[in-house]
Amino acid sequence: MKSKLCELYVIKYIIMMFILSATLLYMYYKGNIDTRAIVLCVAAVFIMEILLDLFSEKYRSGSENSQRDEVGVVKGFLHKTAGMRNELKVKNEELKALRDISEIITSTFEVKIITEYIYEIFNKFAGCDRYLIAFADKCSEQLIFKYEFGTIILNETGDFVDQESIVAKCYESKRTLIALNSFIKSRNTAGDKIAIPLSVSGETVGVIFIESGSAYSFEKLNISFLENLAVYAAISIKNAELFNNLYEQKQEIEALYEETTAVNEELNSYINQLNKTKEELKSKNDELIAYYNEIHTAYLQTVTALSNSIEAKDAYTRGHCQRVMEISCELGKRLGMSESEIEDLRYVAILHDIGKIGVPARILNKQGKLTDDEYNDIKKHPLIAYNILKDVEFIKGGLDGILQHHERYDGKGYPYGIKGEGICKLGRILCIADAFDAMTSDRPYRKAMSMREAVSEIERCKGSQFDPYIASEFIQLSKQII
Ligand SMILES: [Fe+2]
Ligand SMILES: [Fe+2]
Repeated sequence: MKSKLCELYVIKYIIMMFILSATLLYMYYKGNIDTRAIVLCVAAVFIMEILLDLFSEKYRSGSENSQRDEVGVVKGFLHKTAGMRNELKVKNEELKALRDISEIITSTFEVKIITEYIYEIFNKFAGCDRYLIAFADKCSEQLIFKYEFGTIILNETGDFVDQESIVAKCYESKRTLIALNSFIKSRNTAGDKIAIPLSVSGETVGVIFIESGSAYSFEKLNISFLENLAVYAAISIKNAELFNNLYEQKQEIEALYEETTAVNEELNSYINQLNKTKEELKSKNDELIAYYNEIHTAYLQTVTALSNSIEAKDAYTRGHCQRVMEISCELGKRLGMSESEIEDLRYVAILHDIGKIGVPARILNKQGKLTDDEYNDIKKHPLIAYNILKDVEFIKGGLDGILQHHERYDGKGYPYGIKGEGICKLGRILCIADAFDAMTSDRPYRKAMSMREAVSEIERCKGSQFDPYIASEFIQLSKQII
């Protein structure tokens, strides 16, 4: 503006000088410089000056007004710039806080450290003197204060949150709740309270609560910034929880692994011990089997010796007991008897006629027909055998077979006339084997039948003298031999 005024003055003086010089030169060349010309010239200069002054005055006043307006604009601009600078400073601080909390999230999994840091930021921006964080308890699903910071500590950590409080309502509504100039019972005065939900992916895990004893102190707070802080806090707390859970699980798994390894080693030790015991038992078992076989052989030899003693007395029955034993055992196998039953059958078969020891040799070897008394003596041999053997332990299982080997299926046998299934199984088997061998052996009073004839006789007497089923099995067995 000043430069424009200067320009006007310069122009004015140039014009005045130009008019004056032109007038004087004109008169000089004409040679008639007179008073009228000088007066005219001076008047023209003054008129020009007046005009120019008027013009410059107008210009000057307009410029000053404009200058005042511009100063106002500049002042306003400067004021606005100062406000923007302050706002920018606050924004920078907020950004720095968010950046710092991001670093905290990635640098620690200690929930206490995270919450304490968030408190410091809240305190910096909100100026709160009480700060609490409540989390939902997983078991009771109720809110419990977990952390408490600030210049006023009421030791509420571990307490359940009052259902009517702003904290509980914030948790239920999942929204930030603000109470300005609200009565605070613990302070007995009015103050401000804010409850901000800690939410991650739509899940609310807790609430941040801040309090100030000064009413309307939270009025101008940037709530969205605090909510952003709360989101960061929720994420970091959730991450820390996840990490801690994983860490605990890892510890449990390691402990379990160690325990399992110890148990495994113990089991291996037991297994080795069991294997050793098993080997020892097998060895003992082998010894017992060998011992049993020795005893068994000794029994059989003893029994065979007894059997031979009968045959030494009765020349016509030589080899009879051995053959009856072999036939009985083959028949027993065909009938599906167990090893143990076959074993009993073997002993009773070879000893079935041992009772003939008590029958006089003259009766046993008599060439002619026996008298009734003599036959009655013969019929006593099953009972005599029973009495001889009744106290021998290894014979007890089949002793009835010896006693009943002359009983008939129709009840007409001796010594007791038992019939049918009343006769023990060994007795019914011995009856057939004994009769077959007797029929196929020479006797003092007759010649031996052929095997086919003897089988036919067994067939004929099936159901009367012999058990029909066992007799049928015997006949089937005989077909493999004859
Ligand atoms: Fe007999
Ligand atoms: Fe016999």
